[in-house]
Amino acid sequence: MAPNHSRSVKLNDGYFMPVLGFGTYASDEVPKSKAGEATKVAVDVGFRHIDAAYAYQNEEEVGKALREKMADGTVKREDIFYTTKLWNTFLRPELVRPALERSLKKLGLDYVDLFIIHWPVPMKPGEDLLPKDASGQIILDTVDLCDTWEALEKCKDAGLTKSIGVSNFNHKQLEMILNKPGLKYKPVCNQVECHPYLNQSKLLEFCKSKDIVLVAYSALGSQRDPNWVEKDSPYLLEDPIVKAIAKKHNRSPGQVALRYQVQRGVVVLAKSFNEKRIKENFQIFDFELTPEDMKAIDGLNRNFRYAKLLFAADHPNYPFSEEY
Ligand SMILES: NC(=O)c1ccc[n+]([C@@H]2O[C@H](COP(=O)([O-])OP(=O)(O)OC[C@H]3O[C@@H](n4cnc5c(N)ncnc54)[C@H](OP(=O)(O)O)[C@@H]3O)[C@@H](O)[C@H]2O)c1
Repeated sequence: MAPNHSRSVKLNDGYFMPVLGFGTYASDEVPKSKAGEATKVAVDVGFRHIDAAYAYQNEEEVGKALREKMADGTVKREDIFYTTKLWNTFLRPELVRPALERSLKKLGLDYVDLFIIHWPVPMKPGEDLLPKDASGQIILDTVDLCDTWEALEKCKDAGLTKSIGVSNFNHKQLEMILNKPGLKYKPVCNQVECHPYLNQSKLLEFCKSKDIVLVAYSALGSQRDPNWVEKDSPYLLEDPIVKAIAKKHNRSPGQVALRYQVQRGVVVLAKSFNEKRIKENFQIFDFELTPEDMKAIDGLNRNFRYAKLLFAADHPNYPFSEEY
């Protein structure tokens, strides 16, 4: 089936990415089966872009859900855009392809559409997702990200992934990859936290100038996971301006937060494991925010980041010390 061009963006390698994606991450307290159930609902209501990761530890459930939706005729493999991510413990180049093959095996798929470096900060290789020392500190590693990138390029050449990209990179880290001698493929995207309180306008401008798509996560204000997010963080969907704009359009604040991104050329992810909200989040193509609405939402920016990942703050690859 030809991609729906009005709801997709053309990547710099010629493939298409749907502008609205379904997020599959939930904390360990949520049974993994919920991700599979929610994925099936998401496909049923129209989501064709599924954002996942090895680190979410639910690729078996999400893969099974997708294969069921293919088997019952709802979608074909080529209708789905599936993203997985290379976890921090696998950034050494020799670990890259085995990590992708492991995801594919869990998924029961032959290829993914997009394989991205989850974080630029490497962690000690091994089976633990968060390797810790005796004092409970996460053990970091040193890897040249240009070598990691070359290993991703080889995964694309081997047909294990259609496209390759990065996540949580600042513009200097993107530039390092773009300026790598012998670069074969540019990253197609940079997936970062992005919402009205952290609208990433400078990074967005930079990415657009390099034909790199910015993909927004935590676009609804994050799941406020106490492991990563401070309790007193502001509630985005309670914001009076977002609420007033939603009321004016007879929409929900969540729909406004998602629509905002699509209108400014950002691909947006939305996580929900609730049937009503999954449906609601897909209904963003039948209304439009006015230039004044967009300006008012732009005005909410306060460079506030929900997930700061401060445990890596002293590592030279920590991405958030740069302005953008
Ligand atoms: N690359 C990275 O490092 C990275 C980091 C974080 C996230 N991500 C990806 O981005 C996805 C989305 O980000 P996120 O997980 O931070 O969550 P999010 O999309 O900001 O959603 C946050 C919460 O909002 C609730 N919600 C959803 N729709 C709503 C609506 N219409 N109205 C009110 N509340 C609503 C959801 O709860 P219910 O389930 O109860 O509806 C969800 O827990 C993730 O699942 C993951 O795929 C990537």
